[in-house]
Amino acid sequence: MENIELLKMEHRNIEKALDVLVRMADRAEKQGTLPIPEAEFILDFLRSYADAFHHNKEESVLFERAAEKGMSRFGGPLEVLEGEHEEGRAHIRAMAQHLGDNDAAGFAGEARHYAQLLRSHIHTEDQDVFPMIEEYLSGGDDVELLLLYQNADLEKRAYCRQLLKKLEALSSTFKFRSGS
Ligand SMILES: [Fe+2]
Ligand SMILES: [Fe+2]
Repeated sequence: MENIELLKMEHRNIEKALDVLVRMADRAEKQGTLPIPEAEFILDFLRSYADAFHHNKEESVLFERAAEKGMSRFGGPLEVLEGEHEEGRAHIRAMAQHLGDNDAAGFAGEARHYAQLLRSHIHTEDQDVFPMIEEYLSGGDDVELLLLYQNADLEKRAYCRQLLKKLEALSSTFKFRSGS
């Protein structure tokens, strides 16, 4: 389904940010200092793109529709996924706190936990839960969901495009500098 493909494509962008985050964490730990503007950018990306742009569509549009179509909203995989979104937000707050304290080791530890959580979360959605959700949805739902996503994204789209552009640039910088 097209609406699911769109969310999966966003997962690939989030994974790119996680790669940068982990490389940044490794380097920060080795050098004992944090690259402040770059770390602030990644946190903004995680808050604005991964959470406000992507998780928002899952929680307030896709999971809602799946529940309307008969999938359990609570006590099953949808509740687990939402719990992980919440856990991710707590990691982002902790990373921001460590960044404010200029605590490179603390930031690195938190960043690795966050990346691990989100990678496994994305894998579960791609491989298990999205196919499950598709079983509940019709072709009509697919069309409607795409429109609802557009409405949900309306004010965020331009900013998210800028974030993706900057991420591309940062991604090559970090590959080069870390030698990985
Ligand atoms: Fe999710
Ligand atoms: Fe997702």
